[in-house]
Amino acid sequence: MEKDFRFKKIEIDNIRENFFRLMSEDWMLVCAGNMESYNIMTASWGTYGILWNKPVAVCYIRPQRYTYQFAEKHPCFTLNFFPDRLKHLLDLCGSRSGRDINKMKIEGLNPVKTTQGNIIFNEARLALECRKIYFDDIKPENFIDTSIEKLYLIKDYHRFYIGEIINAWMP
Ligand SMILES: Cc1cc2nc3c(=O)[nH]c(=O)nc-3n(C[C@H](O)[C@H](O)[C@H](O)COP(=O)(O)O)c2cc1C
Repeated sequence: MEKDFRFKKIEIDNIRENFFRLMSEDWMLVCAGNMESYNIMTASWGTYGILWNKPVAVCYIRPQRYTYQFAEKHPCFTLNFFPDRLKHLLDLCGSRSGRDINKMKIEGLNPVKTTQGNIIFNEARLALECRKIYFDDIKPENFIDTSIEKLYLIKDYHRFYIGEIINAWMP
């Protein structure tokens, strides 16, 4: 564990956040990779719950995102939630790609390594560490509500990763 690691592991039952508000208003940074090489992107779509008797979080990543390559390659991802005053960092990570800027060098966003070697951010107010257990792609033929298809103008259907929440971290 890094010496500047300021997080404590908490039981997920003790998370008092409202995940609907967290996603729609606060957003999150999805991170995949390790200290040598990682990427982050802002996301406001996500799902949380119990599946196969495990606590899970699901993130949805369009294939053209640079983060997609990292999510594919690494066994885990982390979901990082921040205080309001850092919303500008989420704006940045949601409007610029890691192909164009080095997201490992964003001022005000300090990565720390978990015991599992995954990356969370010192400025986060909550971080979920997830182990990928299942993935799939959104399939256009499976839309029952076909009006949703208009969200995919270029047919860039999300790949989703179901992650078992292996750790929840709070400062
Ligand atoms: C509020 C907000 C929410 C977003 N949610 C998602 C999402 O859930 N899935 C996704 O693939 N992209 C989402 N994006 C877009 C990515 O964050 C954006 O394309 C980013 O630049 C990708 O970075 P990357 O290429 O470094 O991975 C969102 C952007 C914003 C601003």
